Parts: sequence; structure tokens; C-alpha cells
Amino acid sequence: MPDLVKLSLHDDIAVITIDNPPVNALGPGVPEGIAEAIKAAGANEKIRAIVMIGAGQTFIAGADIREFGKIVSGTRPRLDLSPYLRVIEDARKPVVVAIHGTALGGGLETAMSAHYRVIAPGAQVGQPEVKLGLIPGAGGTQRLPRLAGVLKAVEMCAVGESIKAEEAVSLGIADRLIEGDLLAGAVAFAREFAGHSAPKTRERNEKLQATNPVIFAAARDQARKRGRGMIAPLAAIDAVEAATQLPFDEGCAREAELFNKCLFSTQSKALIHAFFGERTVAKIPGIPKTIKPLEIRRAAIVGAGTMGGGIAMTYANAGIPVIVKETNKEALDRGISTVHNNYATSVAKGRLSQQSMDERLSRITPQLSYDGFDQADIIVEAVFESMAVKKQVFSELDKIARPDCILASNTSSLDIDEIASATSRPDMVIGNHFFSPANVMRLLEVVRGRETSSEVIATSMALGKKLGKIAVLAGNCRGFIGNRMVAPYLREAQFLVEEGASVEQVNQALYDFGMAMGPLAMDDLTGLDVSYAIRREFERLEKPGVRKPLVPDLLCEQRRFGQKTGRGWSKYDANRQPSPDPETAELIERSARQAGIARRKIASDEIVDRCIYALVNEGARILEEGIALRSIDIDITYLYGYGFPAWRGGPMFYADTVGVHRVLARIEELEKEHGPDLWAPAALLQNLVARDRSFASFDEGKEGS
Ligand code: 3HC
Ligand code: NAI
Repeated sequence: MPDLVKLSLHDDIAVITIDNPPVNALGPGVPEGIAEAIKAAGANEKIRAIVMIGAGQTFIAGADIREFGKIVSGTRPRLDLSPYLRVIEDARKPVVVAIHGTALGGGLETAMSAHYRVIAPGAQVGQPEVKLGLIPGAGGTQRLPRLAGVLKAVEMCAVGESIKAEEAVSLGIADRLIEGDLLAGAVAFAREFAGHSAPKTRERNEKLQATNPVIFAAARDQARKRGRGMIAPLAAIDAVEAATQLPFDEGCAREAELFNKCLFSTQSKALIHAFFGERTVAKIPGIPKTIKPLEIRRAAIVGAGTMGGGIAMTYANAGIPVIVKETNKEALDRGISTVHNNYATSVAKGRLSQQSMDERLSRITPQLSYDGFDQADIIVEAVFESMAVKKQVFSELDKIARPDCILASNTSSLDIDEIASATSRPDMVIGNHFFSPANVMRLLEVVRGRETSSEVIATSMALGKKLGKIAVLAGNCRGFIGNRMVAPYLREAQFLVEEGASVEQVNQALYDFGMAMGPLAMDDLTGLDVSYAIRREFERLEKPGVRKPLVPDLLCEQRRFGQKTGRGWSKYDANRQPSPDPETAELIERSARQAGIARRKIASDEIVDRCIYALVNEGARILEEGIALRSIDIDITYLYGYGFPAWRGGPMFYADTVGVHRVLARIEELEKEHGPDLWAPAALLQNLVARDRSFASFDEGKEGS
């Protein structure tokens, strides 16, 4: 038997321990080992019952996700877990699975094929396959409704959220909660049931009786809304429905068919890319694990505006006390009352308890002075996007802050090195670019300056995790990774309306592509005044004679800043619901006519190509300049900061799925139509095509990939 699975004897009870660190995934050798151990225990007459448990922090966290790519590319045959699970279910001695940590995906499927399950408080169980673009593939969609009921099974398989131990017990997924020593409790439980006839989950049909078909129709409606464009949630619902219509074996066959369809889909590849990407971005080439992050116990923030308030909440939510400084009482009161209202809304919606709200608020100290800033381990600057104002603030901070205090700027576009030059400690200066709303959005773009120390980078990356964010490291340039790429994306959206598309058509085309919202809707949400201020900062660097969007400045001159003023690219009602704005449409048309731009009918395909390929082309430049470490860092930035659909994997992964040669060919066409200043293809893209490579292959061999 492989070492991955160990069999030991506790008098009359056999204990099978799965030991495949870090998460006991069902990689090659594990299911085989379990089946062998079950058979060995079955053959031993002294054994009356069997306990199965995970070594380390967790029970089985699922199939080995790394194997899926190999199966799809044909380098490894599909490992069908079902026959191994049958061995467990058909064992003549009761099998008790003891769950701690997580039993996810194939892990829960393994547990459900046993006769009993006991669970530790704090453990979680779930069928998260849908988050990887898959469905349960080892009987999960057939056994879970038999244990938990159809309604809960549909929800767990189609949404993918885990449930806690107590709920697992109340639903019937687990049989007993074990406080204290889990193994001892499981062995005692096994002894209690030794000699009883062992109930096979696949034969427990009582919870399948009289299922209301409305459950499935409602679940499909919800899945279409929540997982817009995704195939796996619908496949998961089909598979659970099959459990209510077909005998177990036929239901499993239907599940296998649907699982395979999902496994070979581009969506699943994209979501698996995102799963590993989320973890890869934490690995920074050149910064060894021996570099220890500094401890962040106290924070301070300068500015309590849109971002300062959200950042303060983020720190307070993570248990870190934070001082917030403003220039005047009015701005401070406004900022803190927004924080208060945000928490109160969460309490009203039942997402937060009043006690948690009070605790979090008590960690935030609003004030008008720099008192206490000399105690902070990190100071985050979130003042206006103006180099002059930021340099002034940093020179003040340099005088007050401890020498080992990190000075972080939340700038969304400005030069970190120039900001750092206002201090005597550029090695301690870094960009910590949060996204709005900062307490909600998962992305934290960490921007390294020329002199930022490795320790300060490592601290920001670790702090990101502590704050519940996905931290991506970027180099210093105008707009870093995210906003540098968004500039040509927005530019194309704005050109397209000048050339004849409506605002609604542009938004709809990108929404249909899968973006969380259209580009002009995003512009209205961020505030047109924000990009206006950034344009003024960088005006001096613009190359003369290059086409620029005509309308954004005009809208700002009319104080049409988007949602915050109720008018921008669209009109907004009191609930921020958009409707077409005829005055903006008129302004666009008039500006285009005056500039001699020919108006024409524009197809949605052109809208998507121009906006998305503008992202890809700029992304390729960012890679070639080393601003992003790997293409996966760009993808994660876009998935977590800009609402790019996860099932498309991010802009660079998407380009790979289209084929870089096709992307380049289209960019070359656009270059012919619109000129090289706007559309010259990135050299890296040309290079990849010339060498028949992809963005993914560009990442290969880089640390963390
Ligand atoms: N397969 C392969 N590797 C896995 C894995 C899996 N199922 N789950 C986690 N890992 C790896 C991670 O990539 C990471 O590797 P790294 O250290 O090299 O970056 C390491 O294990 C630790 O993972 P995390 O950093 O995520 O650790 P956490 O403690 O934060 O989280 C977890 C643990 C909750 C188990 C989380 O890793 C997770 O959600 N894993 C995925 C679970 C999942 O989706 N299971 C279903 C798989 S599909 C399936 O089972 C199909 C079946 O129906 C046939
Ligand atoms: P904001 O205008 O809402 O808030 C800025 C606040 O800073 C104001 O309340 C102002 O009174 C205060 N302030 C100015 N000088 C100060 C000083 N010397 N001391 C203390 N307070 C001072 O601006 P917002 O949107 O919060 O932006 C702040 C920073 O965050 C900018 O650099 C911006 O580019 C960046 N950012 C903004 C995003 C957004 O969506 N609004 C997203 C990500 C980054």
C-alpha cells in the first residue's frame, strides 16, 4: 500500500489515515490506497469497524486539481474515483469518516460513500467544483441529495459554498459533532455501531421522494443570473435533477457525462487557471521566504474620503486599530459617517452583528492631527490624486513616522519614486493601491518603487492576505498594471460612441462578454472627475496629434461626473439606476460631427474586439517591460479589480484561448484603420506569434508558475 494511506489498528477498530500534504488531495495513489486499506481491514477478522481520517490540518480537500490539465491534454487518463468509493460503500464492516478542516469536492464524495460521518466543530464540507467550472464527478450529485435533501444539494452543487459542521449535522450530511479529540471520538462512535448493518448512502432514497420540480426551475433562474455565461452551475443542477429521476447507477452515468463536458470546456481551464493564479501571485521571484514580513499591529491613514474610509474599514475588519486623519472637521465627519452607515447597512442586512460593528468602529480613531502617527507600523496615504499634495503629505510623514514604519500610497496612477523622493527613506515607501469600495473589492495592487525594500514588499503582500485581499505586485509606471490597461480599454469605448455606437450598446456588448459592467458604466461609477484629474496630471506627457476622446472633458465641464452627480455617460435615478441620457447622446453626436468623425452602425463584435484587444495589447507591453511579473498577475488583477469574467480566465488567458496569432491579426487590422499610435502591436505579442508560443508559455519557468 502506498505511504499516502496508512492503516493502523486501535484494538478492534482499523484506522485509515490519508496523508498527502498539504490538503490530502485525491491524487494518484490515494484512492487506490484507500480501497486497499478497506479491503485489508475487511479481511482482518479482529477488526469490527473502520475509521477514516486525514493527517495534518484537514480531511480530503478534493481531487488533485493539478491532474485535470493533464487529463484534458491527454497526458494522463481520467481517474474515475467511483469504483474506489464503491469499495468503501460496499465494505461489510461499518466505515466512519472523521472530518476536520475541510471535506470538499471528492473529499465530501469520499465521506458520503462511507456509512457514517462524524465531524469536528469548525470543519466545513462542500461541493465547490462549480467554482472550477466543474461539477462533482464521483457521485456527489447523487449521494448529496440522498443525505441533505434535494433543495440543499442543488444549492451546494450549483453555488459551491461550503457549510459548517453544525449545519452538516442538522442536514444529515454528518451524523455527530465530536468535541475534543476527533480520532478518539470517531473510534468510540465506530465501536458503538460495530456489528450494525451499515447503511449505504446510494440506497437511502427517502429524501428523494416527491421532489417539487419548481426547485430546479428556480435554481436555473438563479444560476443564469449569478453565474452569467457559466455552464457548470446549470450542469450541476441537471445532475442533481437526474438523481430524482433515475436509479443511482444511471444518475451517476449522467453525472459523468456532464462532468466530462465541463472538464473539457474552456471555462473550466480558465477557472482552474484563476484558482492557481490566486495562489501564484503571492510568490515573488527574488524575494525568498527567508525574508520575514514586518509585523503590522497599528495603522494610520491620511485622508477620510472615498478611499480613506474604506481602507480604514478594511484594517478595522482585520482587527488592526487605525487612526484616520483629515484636514478639516467637515470632511472628517463626512468620512466617518459614511463608514458608520456602511457598517449599519451590513447590520440591517443581517451580515454583521451589532457587537461586531461596535468593535470595528472602536478600532477606528478619527482626528485632525498627526497624534499617534509615531506609533503606527504602516501609514497609508489616501489624499487627492495630485503629485504636489502627495509629496507634501509624504514629507510631513517622513518627519513624524518611526524609521521602520512603512509609508504606503493609495495613488491610482502617480509615480511612486517621485512620491518617495519627498522622504529620506525611499526604501520604506510603496504603493498599496486599493480598489473602490476598498472594504469590498478583493484586489490590492502593491506597487514597488525603485528603492522599495524586499522586506517592505513582503510585508505588503502578507498584509494583503491578512486584510482579506488578493495582493498582486506591480512595477512603477503610470497606472501600474490595472489602470494602465484600463486607459486604452476606456479610450476605445469612448471612441466607439463617437463613431456611432450608443452608450448603451457599448455597455451591453461588454456586459454580454461577461464583464461585471460595461466600460462607460464603470467610468460613471468611478467618477469622470477622477479620470479628469489624472488626465490633467499627465497632460504634459501626451504625444501631440494623437486622437483623444472628445467627450469626457466636456462632460466634466458640465459637472456630469457620473453616478455621484446623477448624470454622466448615462442618467441615474435616486437608486443609481441608469437610463439613456439624450443630452449626452446629443453632445457625443455634435462633438463627433464637429471633429469630422464619420458615424456608422457598429456591430457588437467590433466593440468587444476593440475594447478587449486594447487590454491585451497593453497587457503584453506591461509584461514585456516587466511591470507585471507573469501574465497570470495581469489576469488576477483583472478578475479581482475590474470585474473581468473569471470563466474567461483574465485578458491574457482569454487571448491564449482565442489564439495569439488571431489576436495579433486583428490588432494589425485595427492598426491599419486607426494608426500605430493607438494600435501598434506589442513586440512581445509579435514575438509570441513568431515563436508559436502563448502568454501561458511566457510564464513557464518563472518562479511561482
Ligand atoms: N488539488 C491540488 N492542490 C490543492 C488542492 C487540490 N484540491 N487544494 C489546495 N491545493 C494546494 C494549493 O494550490 C496550495 O498550493 P501551494 O502552497 O503550492 O500554492 C496548497 O494546496 C494550500 O492551499 P491554500 O493556499 O488554498 O490553503 P488554504 O488553507 O488557504 O485553503 C482549501 C485550503 C480550503 C482546501 C483551499 O485550498 C481550497 O479551496 N482548495 C480547493 C478545494 C476544491 O476545489 N476541491 C474540489 C476539487 S475538484 C473535485 O474534487 C472533483 C471531484 O468531484 C471528482
Ligand atoms: P477623495 O477626494 O474622496 O478623498 C481625499 C480626501 O483627502 C479628502 O477628504 C481630503 O479632505 C483629504 N485630504 C487632502 N489632503 C489631506 C491632508 N494633507 N491630510 C489629510 N487629509 C487630506 O478622494 P479618493 O477618491 O478617496 O482618492 C484618494 C486617493 O485614492 C487618490 O490618490 C485616488 O487616485 C486613489 N484612488 C481612488 C479610487 C476611487 O475610485 N475613488 C480608487 C483607487 C485609488
